Amino acid sequence: MKSYIDLIQQTFEFPTMEFHVNEDNELLFNNVPLMDIIKEHGTPLKINYLPKIGEHIENARMFFRNAIKRFNYKGTYTYCYCTKSSHFSFILEEALKHNIHLETSSSFDIPIIRELYRRGKVSKSTYILANGFKRPLYTQYLSELINEGFNAIPILDNLKEIEAYEKSTTAESVSFGIRIATDEEPNFAFYTSRLGIRYNDVNQLYKEKIESNPRFKLKMLHFFINSGIKDSAYYWSELTRFMFKYCEMQKMCPDLDSIDIGGGLPIQTSLQTGFDYQQMIDEIIENVQWICNKNNVPVPHIFTEFGSYTVGESGAVIYKVIDKKLQNDKELWYMIDGSFITQLPDSWGMNQKYIMLPINNWDNPYQKVNLGGLTCDSQDFYNSEMHSSDLYMPIIGDDETQYIGFFHTGAYQESLGGYGGIQHCLIPAPKHVLVDRDAEGRITTKVFADEQDSESMLRILGFRDESYVRSDDSDETQETISGREKADPDSAVSKSISPGTSKSAQAEELAELAESKN
Ligand SMILES: Cc1ncc(COP(=O)(O)O)c(C=O)c1O
Repeated sequence: MKSYIDLIQQTFEFPTMEFHVNEDNELLFNNVPLMDIIKEHGTPLKINYLPKIGEHIENARMFFRNAIKRFNYKGTYTYCYCTKSSHFSFILEEALKHNIHLETSSSFDIPIIRELYRRGKVSKSTYILANGFKRPLYTQYLSELINEGFNAIPILDNLKEIEAYEKSTTAESVSFGIRIATDEEPNFAFYTSRLGIRYNDVNQLYKEKIESNPRFKLKMLHFFINSGIKDSAYYWSELTRFMFKYCEMQKMCPDLDSIDIGGGLPIQTSLQTGFDYQQMIDEIIENVQWICNKNNVPVPHIFTEFGSYTVGESGAVIYKVIDKKLQNDKELWYMIDGSFITQLPDSWGMNQKYIMLPINNWDNPYQKVNLGGLTCDSQDFYNSEMHSSDLYMPIIGDDETQYIGFFHTGAYQESLGGYGGIQHCLIPAPKHVLVDRDAEGRITTKVFADEQDSESMLRILGFRDESYVRSDDSDETQETISGREKADPDSAVSKSISPGTSKSAQAEELAELAESKN
């Protein structure tokens, strides 16, 4: 019978730049021997391979540089990282080594920005493109940044948002973006996105609130297509409509010189899918330029906010098969020592597929299996792949141990599933290890967090006195960090109240925090 490696080699071009198998029939990911990592740290294990982040940032810059050159495009390109895809300090700090800018979506992003500033990782000239439907704390924090000279640009998401900056900004010049509500994909539940301002309202907002205010400038129009950048009639028609609006607005608003085309650069979810990134970016640049030329408008500077593309491919989760269960004549389950529903929530909520490969036993024959998670939820399974409705794994004897890796899991999974909180069947967050390379190219590893322990759950669940967040009569607020105490204590992820913030804002931040916990 053929072995697992035969199956992979006849299905894909294998090995790839990222994955290969050594003489012991074990998998290497970006040349990192995963069995060595497993031997050192055990499973379940979350890893981030940090060099991938810089590699992708530089790749994206190269695609834009090439396209700008090819079409003699007169605008510039600016790379922003969409922080919501992964807020971890190690991700932000790694990305910021590459001189990038940031896009935010929450008031809680701003204390992170302040902490990064304190650490010297961002400067006042770093663009902070502030997206999202903003509650008062968020507009207040943004106003404070703007007043202190940070390069923060609120991207207006609704018609009233600007009133907050009318009241609380004092800077001589305040730049804005306007997010334009795009139409959704034809098969979506709604015609028009709830995010952003409808096309028909943009001119009035500009005329009444921005043009009429000598301190305010409209710098940027923003658009984001939920389904990402893809070569579909839908994407091109939305981009075209957006660019015609840009040209119309630019003619009445000379300060408008930039567009932000959002995130959505895809990542590999199978060994099979390859993307021609250069061609996608070429087409964007060519189309934008063509529409501007047709309208006699200078081409805009282009900003992007790639989230998945920045961090997605850096992440992996590794499990051990802890049991084999044959539940009828043909349905064989490999039970893993973790859970899909809690640790890879997109696989459950969106049927998201990842690159999934065994870590060892590549020379064993293979069989069709279902992978089962530890929670009691019937949906906690994974049994198909991007390229196939079946899933195959090496056949293992009773004396053999099988490890399985899910790759390119670095974006959004902690934002959705939480990190070290309370999850289905109290499945703990796995140990988390950062893999890097030193100046000589040698692999280094660092434990970011041990496996979550029961003590952190007891605290969150109110079984410890210090679990509660209180504020007393004298308006002194007391904050307790519940959750994952073992995570890097210096981490920007741990909650902090920004230094320049008033007491009432702190109280509101805590109220928001309490609300978000409910
Ligand atoms: C406004 C905005 N920009 C950027 C992104 C990042 O998208 P992606 O992770 O697909 O690059 C998102 C994701 O939801 C978004 O809402």
